Amino acid sequence: MNGDSVVTPVQTSNPLPWHLLPDTSSAGPDGRLSIGGCDALDLVAEFGTPLFVYDEEHLRARCREAVAAFGSHATYASKAFLCKAMARIAFEEGMGIDVASGGEMHVCLAAGVPADRLVFHGNNKSVAELALARQERVGRIVVDSDDELGRLESLYRSDGIVPDILLRITPGIKAETHEYVATGQDDSKFGFTVSTGAAKAAVDRAQESPAVNLVGIHAHIGSQVFRVDSFAAAVGVLADFANPLGLPELVVGGGLGVPYVEGEEAPSITQWSAIIKKAAVDAGIKATIGIEPGRSVAAAAAVTLYTVGTVKNLPGIRSYVAVDGGMSDNPRPVLYGSGYEAFLPRAVTAERADRVRIVGKHCESGDLLIRQASVPADLVVGDVLATPVTGAYGHSMGSNYNKILRPPVVFCRDGDARLVVRRETYDDLLSTDLG
Ligand code: LLP
Repeated sequence: MNGDSVVTPVQTSNPLPWHLLPDTSSAGPDGRLSIGGCDALDLVAEFGTPLFVYDEEHLRARCREAVAAFGSHATYASKAFLCKAMARIAFEEGMGIDVASGGEMHVCLAAGVPADRLVFHGNNKSVAELALARQERVGRIVVDSDDELGRLESLYRSDGIVPDILLRITPGIKAETHEYVATGQDDSKFGFTVSTGAAKAAVDRAQESPAVNLVGIHAHIGSQVFRVDSFAAAVGVLADFANPLGLPELVVGGGLGVPYVEGEEAPSITQWSAIIKKAAVDAGIKATIGIEPGRSVAAAAAVTLYTVGTVKNLPGIRSYVAVDGGMSDNPRPVLYGSGYEAFLPRAVTAERADRVRIVGKHCESGDLLIRQASVPADLVVGDVLATPVTGAYGHSMGSNYNKILRPPVVFCRDGDARLVVRRETYDDLLSTDLG
């Protein structure tokens, strides 16, 4: 039901379910995987491992799906995956971009995305971040707290800039997902709570304040949510709060889940959008609706390629297959118990008869990528091993733990492989170290 639950995926010897791969994936007559017309093993020969390989057409298609449903009010949540090339793709395809820090804002501006297409989020924006957002004239600031309203008022007193804002509210919906990514329930650090009256008080304050122009309400109930009825319920609760206010905009956040492992299925962005639109009509919402998908745009667009470095067989216990990355390029299994699949790009349609634990190269036992993976029985040291659906919250949540170098990112399209983020170097590790 949920890719972030701690359940072990259904264990079969089946080949990798094809729908977990990026849209333009294909298998050659020799069984080798290509993405965007680029052979995965050729990419490894050129760029090394670990390597994030994105299907550019897949990213663009998901952006177009969101824009087809919600026009310019479809906003890409860049926390899922961001680099300049990604920001440009989302913008070129017509999406706005949700930035949740000064850093994300900086990357989007550096990519040439006009500031008015940015939506600035965060539960604890600093004065410096708010000042930057206002001076750059970002499209919307999503105000999360009374303290933030106070900061905007004092900035206004010094420069007179009046940003358009949304107020983020917590509608009191408990989405069925991992507790770390559930955000709609009352007990949350985010937003103004509806049930306590804080949300209504914030609306009154914002409407009376000369420092902000309140244009709408925002809510985000959580991430990796598969149950569309959670979204429909959220829209209903939001309507009860927002309809009487008569504001022009209502943003219902992101959160659409994606399948990570065999047996999982999720609605498409188009299906999700249709459910939100129907719920909005049923609830009598007149405001323009906006969405903010992140994961559903980027997750399935990428695979991570690793090289198998060691295999340790413990008879009667298990086999450990160690790759040249780990929790520094994908912390999700360790953080949330998230499940992934594995396969060999040299034989993408092969049966996967062996059960192994796939681990990284970090100095701790918790560093696992797949607790119980199905892999082809002929896997050997030196093989390139891939994990699909790593395009969201992988590269973006990566770290330099153990001073491991962050992997490069390649965008593939029509047979061209474009290096959009290069591999870090040892000197990069020292670039902020003043000795
Ligand atoms: N809008 C807001 C205000 C958000 O906080 C988020 C995600 C999104 C949109 C996008 O949600 P998506 O469509 O990607 O579900 N690191 C976690 C996910 C954290 C999500 C945080 N907020 C993970 O790896 O599962």
